[in-house]
Amino acid sequence: MPVFSVSIVPLGVAIPAAVAGLAYLNAKTALWYDLSLARGFLPAAIKNTWREHYDRANNFYKLEDRAQTKSSANRIFLMYEDRTWTYAQSYDMALRYGNWLQKKYDIKKGDIVAMDMMNSDHFVLLTFGLWSIGAKPAYINYNLTGKPLTHCVKAAGTTLMLVEPDVADKVDDDIRGELKDLRIELLTPELMTEIEQTDPTRPLDELRQGQLARDMAILIYTSGTTGLPKAAVVAWGKLTMAGTIAAGFINMKPGDIFYTCMPIYHSSATIMGYSAILEAGATFAIGRKFSTKTYWKEARKFNATMVQYVGETCRYLLAAPPQLDPVTGENLDKKHRVRVAFGNGLRPDVWEKFRDRFGIDTVSEFYGATEGFFATWNSTRNPYAAGAIGRNGWLFALVMKTRLAVIDVDPDTDLPVRDPKTGLGRSARRGAVGELMFVMPDDSADRFQGYYKNKKATDSKVVRNILRKDDRWFRTGDLVSWDGEGRMYFHDRIGDTYRWKSENVATTEVAQAMGAHPAVIEANVYGVQLPHHDGRAGCAALALQPDVYAAAAAEKQQELMRGLADHARNSLPKYAVPIFLRVVTDMTAQTTGTNKQQKHGLRVQGVDPEKVGGDELWWLRDGAYVKFGQKDWNELNGGRVKL
Ligand SMILES: *[C@@H]1O[C@H](CO)[C@@H](O)[C@H](O)[C@H]1NC(C)=O
Ligand SMILES: *[C@@H]1O[C@H](CO)[C@@H](O)[C@H](O)[C@H]1NC(C)=O
Ligand SMILES: *[C@@H]1O[C@H](CO)[C@@H](O)[C@H](O)[C@H]1NC(C)=O
Repeated sequence: MPVFSVSIVPLGVAIPAAVAGLAYLNAKTALWYDLSLARGFLPAAIKNTWREHYDRANNFYKLEDRAQTKSSANRIFLMYEDRTWTYAQSYDMALRYGNWLQKKYDIKKGDIVAMDMMNSDHFVLLTFGLWSIGAKPAYINYNLTGKPLTHCVKAAGTTLMLVEPDVADKVDDDIRGELKDLRIELLTPELMTEIEQTDPTRPLDELRQGQLARDMAILIYTSGTTGLPKAAVVAWGKLTMAGTIAAGFINMKPGDIFYTCMPIYHSSATIMGYSAILEAGATFAIGRKFSTKTYWKEARKFNATMVQYVGETCRYLLAAPPQLDPVTGENLDKKHRVRVAFGNGLRPDVWEKFRDRFGIDTVSEFYGATEGFFATWNSTRNPYAAGAIGRNGWLFALVMKTRLAVIDVDPDTDLPVRDPKTGLGRSARRGAVGELMFVMPDDSADRFQGYYKNKKATDSKVVRNILRKDDRWFRTGDLVSWDGEGRMYFHDRIGDTYRWKSENVATTEVAQAMGAHPAVIEANVYGVQLPHHDGRAGCAALALQPDVYAAAAAEKQQELMRGLADHARNSLPKYAVPIFLRVVTDMTAQTTGTNKQQKHGLRVQGVDPEKVGGDELWWLRDGAYVKFGQKDWNELNGGRVKL
């Protein structure tokens, strides 16, 4: 069965009628939006069916096809630093990798090989090399060390790990001792020469035979908010489906150059990155890692027409000073060919500022999960829907209604609210906040591969008996609301929302309000437990402009803090005004490799002055923020302060 088959049929039927009625539709019905989605959906469903039928589900065949088609063979597939690889050259190199892995390490069909590498052209080439011999990669986050690293490698059940020399220091003797049975190889320059000199014979089809759309292509690890990373199966069908839909949605064409410096070990740069590029026959321009200093420089150098962002990336780019031409002094912010910024996690408070400053025509935001099987999409050229995470035209909404729901959850247990008589859950009222869930149809084994060999973790993502007896839903863990115009708004992650004075506080809403203050570069908000108090008190970890805080005199600091208190009071309900501020010297310690905020560490440290590592704490007293120190903490612990 093709992935997404259920949604495809009604959409396919609906389109001719819609086109006939085109004259009656205005912009608000968002037909263009439906069509840009349809541009991806139909071809995607057809492709998956076709590829299974001809036993071509393995993405190696797609590269082979591009490499052997006259019009695409000499088009550039990969760019990295000063290297370029055409489709034909990439294919040739993938074959060399495949043969080398077979001969040197005896890698067989179905084997999993761990890759501990930073971004480069070879990351992608090695992936295709593994696929060429029917093996599969497990992408390891190269920043992992210690237990999380050994956990990820063990969870993959692999016998070989290839490590890039630049991250070899993380694979120390302890790790090697822990992973005694694993062969660990550094991809040294000598080894790279050996690979380049291996013959590029095409491995037999037998090695890639019998793969279905639901079979594993890659293991990718999701960094949960707590605990160890979980290995999620990314299937061929998901690469094809999401890649095709993404390419259709942002209208990617063969001439497009898509730049990313988001880590390829993460699903964004893989599923929405190089698999979309392969489907479109476009060019993948790869940055080593994210830095505000190199992002636009590289986008210019590669002549990128599309760039990718994840999490707080756009916020960091906005906070950085403009780059100036070293000769003319000209501001280079708008000197690029980028039409589209594509990604997920862009917050409403930076959306328009980002478009304005860098002169980006279209921002396309997607919503989806590595381990899930569905995505919703949003794209904007104007501020109409700024801040929504999903915007559905009426056509698409017809289809989506049957696929997703916003379900009432109990904020104390984080579980669906159930009718005591029937035991069923219920949809949240329009406009009200609930958890976004996707229905799992009977054939959903195809779509939801869940976590690799981890049934418990997989099951925890699924709930039953929600709208009907025996139905099954995939929990996204995201609290959202719909408005009357088909726009969906993201409120918070379940578990991040906290209760204070018997009210629910969404951390994203507080972060957005604090982030709107001109002195604030970034706000990460969470609830902290306090002795002798119920619920959790709001704390905002703030990265502040250095000239107004770190380099300012004490009275200037106090003035700023008074201003922040006024700002918070004017933009938030009383119960949501943060009680504590934590001025953070290094916010990057609280973000993931994909620039996503993490709260767990901050929450655990709370406001104990001994645990905040030199960051300064302030608290709200008589309407103003004042310094919070050990003495105040002792008073709180002694129960002598009531907030
Ligand atoms: C991750 O590793 C790279 C390469 O060693 C390093 O440059 C980077 O600073 C690390 N990032 C974090 C968040 O530790
Ligand atoms: C980018 O475009 C310029 C001007 O057309 C060209 O000279 C340059 O070689 C291009 N760069 C790349 C990496 O293709
Ligand atoms: C949708 O589009 C609006 C456009 O302004 C944007 O603000 C919002 O975040 C987007 N997200 C989704 C998925 O709709």
